[in-house]
Amino acid sequence: MSDLYSGLITLFKSAHIAALLLWCGGLLVLPLMLSRHDPAVTPEDYKRIRRATHTTYAIVVTPAAIIAVVAGTWLIFLTEAFVPWFYAKLVFVAALAAAHAWIGHQVVQVAEKPDERKTAPAFITLAAAMVPIVSILFLVLGKPDLSGVTLPDWLLSPRNGQLPFDVPK
Ligand code: HEM
Repeated sequence: MSDLYSGLITLFKSAHIAALLLWCGGLLVLPLMLSRHDPAVTPEDYKRIRRATHTTYAIVVTPAAIIAVVAGTWLIFLTEAFVPWFYAKLVFVAALAAAHAWIGHQVVQVAEKPDERKTAPAFITLAAAMVPIVSILFLVLGKPDLSGVTLPDWLLSPRNGQLPFDVPK
């Protein structure tokens, strides 16, 4: 492996992990911040908490998620990660992205419907982020041999389907 090649892997992996720390950390902190949107607090405090939640989501957590996914996508090709544990990881990454979107939905709800001031219980939102994070770390750090797992045929061979629109030649 050339120096340039291994240097690129180090660079993208560092960016991947640095961004992940912010992404995953943010997804664990946001449910706790959302739980402070309590009807009992004063309107002033409510405004402050809502702003902090919105800023954390929009300025820190979402950009970190984008950087983590872009760097991770480069790593797929640099490390040639075309192995079953990696496909399993992507399933949990999809679950993490869904948790991210759900938390974003709650951040918007508390801004648009301040009178209701209702969010899902923090432990449920936390679990929605925690389960994929722990599963991903288990897969990526353990790299278990999942070659014994048989996948259905439709996942292993081209389906020869047509796109529902014309592709320019
Ligand atoms: C679309 C999203 C993602 C993609 C495409 C992706 C892709 C990758 C790839 C290809 C590697 C290199 C694997 C290897 O060294 O063989 C990697 C490393 C890593 N990924 Fe991801 N990843 C994504 C999201 C995540 C998430 C959400 C987490 C954590 C919750 C995570 C944690 C890690 C860690 C800890 C490593 C370093 C593993 C090591 O060096 O042994 N990744 N990722």
